[in-house]
Amino acid sequence: MEKIVAANMKMNMTAYEVNEYLKVINEKVNSDNVILCPTSIYIPYFLKQNYQVGIQNVFFQESGAYTGEVSPLQARSLGINYAIIGHSERRTYFDEKDADINNKVLSCIKNGLKVILCVGETKEEKDLLKTEKVLKKQLTTDLKNLELKDLENIVIAYEPLWSIGSGLTPTNEEILSTVYFIKSTIMGMYDITDIKVLYGGSVNEKNIDLLNQIENVNGFLVGGASLNPDKILKIIDSTLNK
Ligand code: PGA
Repeated sequence: MEKIVAANMKMNMTAYEVNEYLKVINEKVNSDNVILCPTSIYIPYFLKQNYQVGIQNVFFQESGAYTGEVSPLQARSLGINYAIIGHSERRTYFDEKDADINNKVLSCIKNGLKVILCVGETKEEKDLLKTEKVLKKQLTTDLKNLELKDLENIVIAYEPLWSIGSGLTPTNEEILSTVYFIKSTIMGMYDITDIKVLYGGSVNEKNIDLLNQIENVNGFLVGGASLNPDKILKIIDSTLNK
């Protein structure tokens, strides 16, 4: 199975640090299955290399008086290929609702940006055995009103909130069964035979070999570990070259 490694660099690094990082990354990374998503002002530094570039968020309108926002049309016009939509930090700190996320997904697809849609449950929801219910609600609203062919341009990232930045990960069996649930839910909504689902949440250079044993996972969305060139290179190597 062809896998993907996406790096969510969040709001990290100074311009100087980005340049140092890219000295290593640009020399070593050579794959269309790697998607680097830096803080948006640094995106021009990452373009025209041998990997793909994603933006961490967009607004759903194409242009207009929306101070501080970036549109999918603008992102695409610069040569950006992907957008991360609905990350839990956007849902939590910026109060993004599933309806907003659906608008963003639709606008990305309309403007030719591929989507990495993030879904996941909190620790409390997991403990109350509500994971499937929560995921189903997120997926049904976030992916509403798409056409069948649009699904080819959507990748899901399953990111349990309690595993993001915490060093905790679900067991391989838990990830396998949740990813199965996500794929079946989407196949119940649309007449497709498969959809790519990544796992995200405390993926690092130490647990990557173990996580790569999960059969139905199509790759990883990596936060903290993507900021260190050695760590992300190890993750890429373990995921793409085996
Ligand atoms: P993490 O973040 O790898 O630092 O846990 C993942 C994410 O938030 O996408």
